[in-house]
Amino acid sequence: MGRVLVMLTAAAAVLACSVATVMVRRRMKRRRKWRRVVGILKDLEESCETPLGRLRQMVDAIAVEMQAGLVSEGGSKLKMLLTFVDDLPNGSERGTYYALHLGGSYFRIIRVYLGGQRSSLHVQDVERHCIPASLLNSTSEVLFDFLASSLQRFIEKEGHESISSRDVKRELAFTFSFPVKQTSLSSGVLIKWTKGFAISEMAGEDIAECLQGALNKRGLNIHVAALVNDTVGALSFGHYHDADTIAAVVFGTGSNACYLERTNAIIKCQNPRTTSGSMVVNMEWGNFWSSRLPRTSYDIELDAESLNSNDMGFEKMIGGMYLGDIVRRVILRMSQESDIFGPIPSILSTPFVLRTNSVSAMHEDDTPDLQEVARILKHLGVSKVPLKVRKLVVKICDVVTRRAARLAAAGIAGILKKVGRDGSGGGRRKSDKQTMRRTVVAVEGGLYSNYKMFREYMDEALRDILGDNVAQHVVVKAMEDGSSIGSALLVASSHSVRTIPYE
Ligand code: BGC
Repeated sequence: MGRVLVMLTAAAAVLACSVATVMVRRRMKRRRKWRRVVGILKDLEESCETPLGRLRQMVDAIAVEMQAGLVSEGGSKLKMLLTFVDDLPNGSERGTYYALHLGGSYFRIIRVYLGGQRSSLHVQDVERHCIPASLLNSTSEVLFDFLASSLQRFIEKEGHESISSRDVKRELAFTFSFPVKQTSLSSGVLIKWTKGFAISEMAGEDIAECLQGALNKRGLNIHVAALVNDTVGALSFGHYHDADTIAAVVFGTGSNACYLERTNAIIKCQNPRTTSGSMVVNMEWGNFWSSRLPRTSYDIELDAESLNSNDMGFEKMIGGMYLGDIVRRVILRMSQESDIFGPIPSILSTPFVLRTNSVSAMHEDDTPDLQEVARILKHLGVSKVPLKVRKLVVKICDVVTRRAARLAAAGIAGILKKVGRDGSGGGRRKSDKQTMRRTVVAVEGGLYSNYKMFREYMDEALRDILGDNVAQHVVVKAMEDGSSIGSALLVASSHSVRTIPYE
């Protein structure tokens, strides 16, 4: 009996030992995997670092590239495109105008009434639609007929005048958010598509002519009076309300900036023929590049797999189209290196399946157990993720967005430096308040207006770069629909004649 007892006790001890060993091994394995994941996060943090010194180098590099792009065609990655906009609207414009805006993810149509005073600007109608995915790689004919038919429907709703009546010609601004080499305010050829558009036969085509052709085909009495980049529309709108506005930036699906430059600084253009002595320059800053940009392996992969690889490097780090995909790539790498997200769901390998609005929702999730993060991960095929893993996902969103916002701030500071409004120019001391002029930068786009953390990081970085003495003179003003309304204003300011009767 005693022997049996001893044997049973020994067996139980052996079993307990092996169970304990298995548990310890499992725990060690889990810890190793967790360490690997934490290592991936640490690498990401390190390669996304944007200390102030590095941001200041970016500011200098942007100002230098701007200068190079103004000196000669192809002199820089920054195209520094002429816009033929020299006089910005001032509030005295009159008439009713239309704008059709083809952006990255949406298109909008608006009708604006201007009564000759700032306070009498009245946006009478706005329509916003998602761009159907099928259009992105359709044909020029399909794209422009789609735009023309949308415009036709919009105007037909007005009901009071026949859209094809010969007596009523409607004046339209075409806000086109892609790089265009302008030949006048109302004409210009597409240089290349960005943001996932890929209608190949269109590069080199006159965009205003294409739209005009589609409108004519439908017998619509509408005149495409201006072809305007979205940043230029935003600047025009900003300037209409505040004459200190000298630059505009779009943080949306893509990103870009424009600013008011002295014509004698635009050396590549011998005869810019402006009356004001200045011209708005569309920088196309999405294409900015510097070896000092904090680039990660995820950026490299994203670029290689994109439709426009080796192009738009800056945009791919700061544009709303891309932030979600960078985050997705980090999560995918983590799930490949460990099983913290469970078995790898195939959906996680789909490019662009995680959108930037989901990144902002996860980043700003303030529920104690990060329910929003859990919900979004579930959509990515990852469910039942422990809280500490959800926290890790929030951290990834933070690192990627913070880098984007800080680089965006460096971009703005680069423009201020180029135009001598960063407090460093002309031998003026930073501390001398008298020498600093109030400077307004108009900002538009969902990334800035809808993503609070992006906005806060950007504003904070801009303050840090400029220093408080200078930053107090710089106002970043957010706008909504400014690029469409501003484009219509440009038609108005280039037109003294009333177009259709006031309402
Ligand atoms: C385009 C720019 C545009 C920006 C913001 C970029 O992809 O190249 O022309 O201004 O997106 O919409």
